[in-house]
Amino acid sequence: MDRATWEAVDQYFDSVLSLSDPIFESALAASRAAGLPEIQVAPNQGRLLQMLARMLGARRILEIGTLGGYSAIWLGRALPQGDAGVKMISLEYHPKHATVARANLERAGLTKVVEVRVGPALESLAAIAKEGAGPFDLVFIDADKENNPNYFDWSMKLTRPGSLIVVDNVVRRGAVADAASNDPEIRGTRALFNRVAAEPRVSATAIQTVGVKGYDGLALIRVVS
Ligand code: SAH
Ligand code: DHB
Ligand code: MG
Repeated sequence: MDRATWEAVDQYFDSVLSLSDPIFESALAASRAAGLPEIQVAPNQGRLLQMLARMLGARRILEIGTLGGYSAIWLGRALPQGDAGVKMISLEYHPKHATVARANLERAGLTKVVEVRVGPALESLAAIAKEGAGPFDLVFIDADKENNPNYFDWSMKLTRPGSLIVVDNVVRRGAVADAASNDPEIRGTRALFNRVAAEPRVSATAIQTVGVKGYDGLALIRVVS
């Protein structure tokens, strides 16, 4: 089974399930035109994130790693629009990515619910904790993988029992299974799994995926107590 087959199946699902629409397409086109890396979640993964948010009845969502706002549109649309207290905060290091994301969120009609904050996520997370902006019902971790253990620690501080923490890119073509890896991203993700294993307040799983994003995977971490 090769990548072309995985891509054909993703394209079949996108088409038969009508996963995309003109807003998503224009967000992707604007991100591409601005030269952003094309590393956003796949449409079927975006729909999964959106379904998880809806199943949780999420009213507050935190995203670490905005890029052009593609996953933020999926998640922002899961929120009950116009309700007081409903909010998504998405953290982005690069001002240029944030500018593209804000324009994409504007076209999606989501500027009232989704706030993009620029800066190193670790600094933004400290500020969010200080402001008492949580607890968040869903956290999507999808930024610099070296910091995954730190993002998990912050997520535990900023969530409540019943919240869900989703971590993207936890497989990386299987490299995560290599205990001897010197890749800082793999070491970061393995450190996150070690934290999860040592954390009695969570129940977690991880799933391998193939598709337009190649061979990768997602971790799902539910805060239980
Ligand atoms: N969630 C997005 C993809 C995010 S790609 C989507 O699926 O649509 C990862 C993003 O994390 C990039 O835009 C990158 O600039 C950002 N990033 C990397 N290091 C960061 C840091 N330390 N703080 C905040 N954002 C960071
Ligand atoms: C990369 C980052 C991502 O978040 C992703 O989903 C795919 C690739 C990357 O940095 O290569
Ligand atoms: Mg990712």
